[in-house]
Amino acid sequence: MFWLTHEAPACELRTLLLLEPMENPPHCVECFRASVSNLLFHSIHWTHSTQWFYHLGVHNSVYLMTTFTRDTEIFRDEDMLREDYQPESITAREEELEEYRKALQPVVNGAQPRNIFLYGKTGVGKTAVSRFLLDRLQRDTEQYDDLDLSVYWLNCTNLSSSYQVAINLVNTIRPPEEEISTTGYPQQRVFNILYDELDAISGTILLVFDEIDQIGTDDEILYELPRARSNGYLESAKPGVIGISNDFGFRDDLSPKVKDTLCEEEIHFSPYNGPELEAILQERADGALFDNAAEPGVISLCAALAAQDSGSARQALNLLYNAGELARARDDSQITEAHVHDARDELEQSQIEHGMRELTQHGHLALVATLHLALDGDTPARVREIYPRYRTIADQSDIDPLVRRRMHDHLADLAMLGILDRRSRNEGRSGGQYYEYEFSVDLETVRTVVADLEGVVLPDRVLRQL
Ligand SMILES: Nc1ncnc2c1ncn2[C@@H]1O[C@H](COP(=O)(O)OP(=O)(O)O)[C@@H](O)[C@H]1O
Ligand SMILES: [Mg+2]
Repeated sequence: MFWLTHEAPACELRTLLLLEPMENPPHCVECFRASVSNLLFHSIHWTHSTQWFYHLGVHNSVYLMTTFTRDTEIFRDEDMLREDYQPESITAREEELEEYRKALQPVVNGAQPRNIFLYGKTGVGKTAVSRFLLDRLQRDTEQYDDLDLSVYWLNCTNLSSSYQVAINLVNTIRPPEEEISTTGYPQQRVFNILYDELDAISGTILLVFDEIDQIGTDDEILYELPRARSNGYLESAKPGVIGISNDFGFRDDLSPKVKDTLCEEEIHFSPYNGPELEAILQERADGALFDNAAEPGVISLCAALAAQDSGSARQALNLLYNAGELARARDDSQITEAHVHDARDELEQSQIEHGMRELTQHGHLALVATLHLALDGDTPARVREIYPRYRTIADQSDIDPLVRRRMHDHLADLAMLGILDRRSRNEGRSGGQYYEYEFSVDLETVRTVVADLEGVVLPDRVLRQL
C-alpha cells in the first residue's frame, strides 16, 4: 500500500488518497472509473456528492482530482441570506421609515441637515433601513440642480476614539494613494484636515457613523462636526451626522453637550416580533431558496425562535441559512424543522465559544482553573477549591492574582454567559450558603478555546489533555 497526496490543480481542496498499488494502471478516464471499484479507498473526505475521479497519468501513479459541481437543490441564491445583503425593500418598519424620512426632509429642502441618532439592539434593521433610505434620498435629490448631496459611511467597529474616527473618515473620503497615517498627528491637525476635505467636497454632506458606540466616552467629534460650520471651520460644506448605536447605554453616557447636538432627532428601533420576523424572512427566502426547499413551518419556526430570544432579523436569517447549510451537508433535499433546531444548537455553541474567547485575562485564568479541576473529575467545585488553582496559574503566567472575592465575580460572569453552571448549596445548620460550579458546555469546546489562549501558561495536567 502507499499514500499518495496531491493538491488537485483545479480546486482548493487538498485531498488525500489511500489506495492499493495498481499493477496495470488504467490509461484513460473511463478505464479508471471502471477500476475504481476494485481499489481500496480510505480517508477520502467528501464535501459534495457529485465528484468524479479522473485518471490523469499512465504511469504507476494516480491522481485524485476533486471537482466542484453546483448543488442547487436548496439555495437559489444563498448570498441573499447573508447579513450584508441589502434588501430591495424594507418590511415591517413603516413608522421608523416615516420618522427617518421626516428627519431627512431639510436635506431635500437644501437646508442645514439635522443630526440624527438611531439606536436599538443588534439585528433590528438600523443599518439596512439607513442604507435603503439614504439610497432613496440620493436618487430622489438628483433632480434638484441646486442641491449637491454626498453621503459618507463609516463603520466605527474597532475605532475607540474621536481621533481614530476623524482619521478614518479622512481616509474614507480620500483616494487610497492619499490616505494619511493612523498615528502621529495632533488631534486638532486631523480635525483641520477633515474640515478641508469637507469644504473641498462642499454642499450637503451626510456622515453616517455606524456602530458609533465603539468610541465610548471619547465623543468629541460628535460635538465638533455638527458645530464646525457655526464655529467658522467650514464655509461651503453643510455637514449632518447620523449616528447609529447598538448600545442603549451609549446615549445616556454621552456628554450633555454631545447629547444636545447629536440627538436632535432620535429614532428608536425596537426588537421585531414573530410575525414581523416571519415577513422579513419570507421575503428573503423567496429569492434565496428554491420553491419547496423548506418544509412548511420552517420559516415561522426560525422567526419564532429568534423572536423569543432577541427579536433580531440577523439571528432569524442566520438560523435559516445555517439550517439550509445543514440540509445541504447531509444531502437532504428539504430544510426541515429538525435542521432548524440543530442549527440553533450549533449557533448557540459557537456563540458560547466566542464568549469564552472574548473573556478578560482573569476570566481566562478562572476558566483554566475550573478546567483543571474538571479534568481531575473534581467538579462541581466550590470557590475555595477553584481559587488556589487560579492563583497558581496566575503566578505561572506572571499575572497578579485578584483577591478571592473578585475572582468569584469572574466565575459568576462565566455562569451568566452559559459557560458554567452555578448551583447554590447549604452547608447544614452551622454553615451558610455557598456556590458550586461545573461546566455547562462540553469540555471539548473549552479545550479548543484554552488551547489557543495567549498570555496564560497552562498547567501540565491541562496541556496533556489538549
Ligand atoms: N425591516 C427589514 N426588512 C428587511 N430586511 C431586514 C429588516 N430589518 C433587518 N433586515 C435584515 O436583517 C439583517 C440585520 O439587519 P441590520 O440592518 O444589519 O441590523 P442592525 O444594523 O440593527 O444591527 C440584515 O441582513 C438586514 O438586511
Ligand atoms: Mg448595523
